[in-house]
Amino acid sequence: MRKTLLVTGGAGFIGSNFVHFMLRNRPEYDIIVLDCLAYAGSLDNLPDAVKQPDQSSGSAFRYGDICNADLVNALTAESDKIVHFAAESHVSRSIVDSWRCVQTNIIGSQTLVDAVRKGNGRVERMVHISSSEVYGEAVTPQMDEAHPLNPKSPYAGAKCGADRMVYAYCATYDLPVVTLRPFNTYGPRQHIEKLVPRFITHVLTGQALPLHGRGEAMRDFTHVDDLCRAVDLALHAPLEQVRGEVFNVASGTCRSVRGIAQDIARLMDADPGRVIQLPDRPGQVARQCGDFAKIHRTLGWSPTIPWDSGLRTAIDWYAQNPDSWRKQALFSTQPILQPDGRIALH
Ligand SMILES: NC(=O)c1ccc[n+]([C@@H]2O[C@H](COP(=O)([O-])OP(=O)(O)OC[C@H]3O[C@@H](n4cnc5c(N)ncnc54)[C@H](O)[C@@H]3O)[C@@H](O)[C@H]2O)c1
Repeated sequence: MRKTLLVTGGAGFIGSNFVHFMLRNRPEYDIIVLDCLAYAGSLDNLPDAVKQPDQSSGSAFRYGDICNADLVNALTAESDKIVHFAAESHVSRSIVDSWRCVQTNIIGSQTLVDAVRKGNGRVERMVHISSSEVYGEAVTPQMDEAHPLNPKSPYAGAKCGADRMVYAYCATYDLPVVTLRPFNTYGPRQHIEKLVPRFITHVLTGQALPLHGRGEAMRDFTHVDDLCRAVDLALHAPLEQVRGEVFNVASGTCRSVRGIAQDIARLMDADPGRVIQLPDRPGQVARQCGDFAKIHRTLGWSPTIPWDSGLRTAIDWYAQNPDSWRKQALFSTQPILQPDGRIALH
């Protein structure tokens, strides 16, 4: 029997990769994408099967805001499963405009989970996509799901509010909800404001690589295809294994931002020493490294895509699709007020 899967934020980076993944691997689903096409969302990211479905298909694109309760209630009532990606996803942008971030990330998530509560019981599973940013600074070498939640930016605070709001609904109303906390993710179709595509497109356009501070911040990166596999597992595991649970999605390997810039330059035959130093971002997290033991133990997930080959697929995609990202260049930096009163572009 066919099932309907609602994917919020499906025109963005991870959401669109997930839509492509599901069409390849789970043909039994009709996919409805809800997206308001904010600056990081694009119809170019979506396959024709969703943008221009033939008459026999139940897949569709629905333009709209995750905070629009009438719309979200109606789409939820038609859905068997939901994956919730829709978000304002950029830390720098949240420092400049925290209102929009709070609205979309917290109110949007509450609107969706409230629609699941009010629905006809049809929704069998909702996977909420949270973020490792909810943890803030690492207080242990590897951060497991019991790590304290100390978000350090408006983005992280809003994701933390959404993460716990979704859990509160699950606990209060016994909803079939599971939360994933991906660490940093990279791959094709990511907006060039983000670290990996920013470095790749700077090399492609002959510019020096921009580093915050000395590039000493440490991050844990997972390829988007590995993340899509984790979402698929969370969507299909027996409910009693995952209801109300939180799972990290991480590689367990910590890399410095400077090292990432050098790796990308090396793979693209560029000069790894050609960098410009930007002021550190206010509220910068110095170090994050994820522990993925719980998702490995429970769902059998572990990362499979090696760093160099994952980077190569991303580099190839940006090299082959300049029309998709060149237009993003004008709004890929944010003016952020520094502690000394100056504005710096981040
Ligand atoms: N990219 C990462 O490294 C990363 C890491 C951890 C968690 N996450 C989380 O994963 C999810 C997806 O991230 P991404 O990198 O694909 O982000 P993205 O910015 O590329 O995509 C977000 C999508 O949400 C849509 N959207 C924004 N506001 C909306 C609204 N009000 N109503 C409907 N749609 C709206 C946008 O148009 C866009 O298509 C987010 O929840 C993000 O917090 C991302």
